[in-house]
Amino acid sequence: MKANEIRRRFLQYFQGDGHEAVSSGSLIPANDPTLFFTNAGMVPFKDVFTGREKRDYSRAVSVQKCLRVSGKHNDLENVGHTARHHTLFEMLGNFSFGDYFKEHAIHMAWRFLTEDLGIDKDRLWVTVFEDDDEAHALWAKVPGVDPSKIQRLGEKDNFWSMGDTGPCGPCSEIFFDHGPEHGEEGGPATESDRYVEIWNLVFMQFDRSADGTKNPLPRPSIDTGMGLERVAAVMQGVYNNYDTDIFQELMGKAAQIAGVT
Ligand code: ALA
Repeated sequence: MKANEIRRRFLQYFQGDGHEAVSSGSLIPANDPTLFFTNAGMVPFKDVFTGREKRDYSRAVSVQKCLRVSGKHNDLENVGHTARHHTLFEMLGNFSFGDYFKEHAIHMAWRFLTEDLGIDKDRLWVTVFEDDDEAHALWAKVPGVDPSKIQRLGEKDNFWSMGDTGPCGPCSEIFFDHGPEHGEEGGPATESDRYVEIWNLVFMQFDRSADGTKNPLPRPSIDTGMGLERVAAVMQGVYNNYDTDIFQELMGKAAQIAGVT
């Protein structure tokens, strides 16, 4: 399945669930002095989460261009060293602004991956924040989820913040197992590159202020992000994102122009 088809299916799936399709925002965030670049799909919605801005919808879906080259989310040192990091990438995201919360977000994500995209459920693992018993219990009751493949990790992995300030909350990540040729068994807790995080579901609950205080958001919300390039690798049966159609067509054309095919 080509990347264009994945984008299309993602938007259509969440539109079918009452989400407003919103175009990607600029890579330079408007009116946000805390960020150089848009580093996640939620950035254009930051003020909606905090309640400073009102929109006439409470659910949104987008495919946001992102740069993680500075600040809290800086992947620059990983680019070229792993099969899954990029400078510019696209984030597929669904958002709830005080509408649904954990249970629906988990249900929708699982159904999209296993039914719409048809990914083998036995190759999926899930992580939750260490003391988030609620998320653990919600995942454990999803039909097809093997409870032994739900792992609890700490703040570094399972508490997401946009930056030093702004919306944040515990999160739950979905990983794809690329198989034994890429490392030892044991799930994402092993930190092996065998397990690649494909989707992060953030349970937005706080707005962190400059002094570190976590102030509760007006209403619990959802912010998710799935790397298009990573899910394209899964769907195209390759390990390296650069082997997907997103890059191969560009690289092939560049090679042709340079006369090195
Ligand atoms: N905002 C979350 C992330 O970027 C979904 O991982």
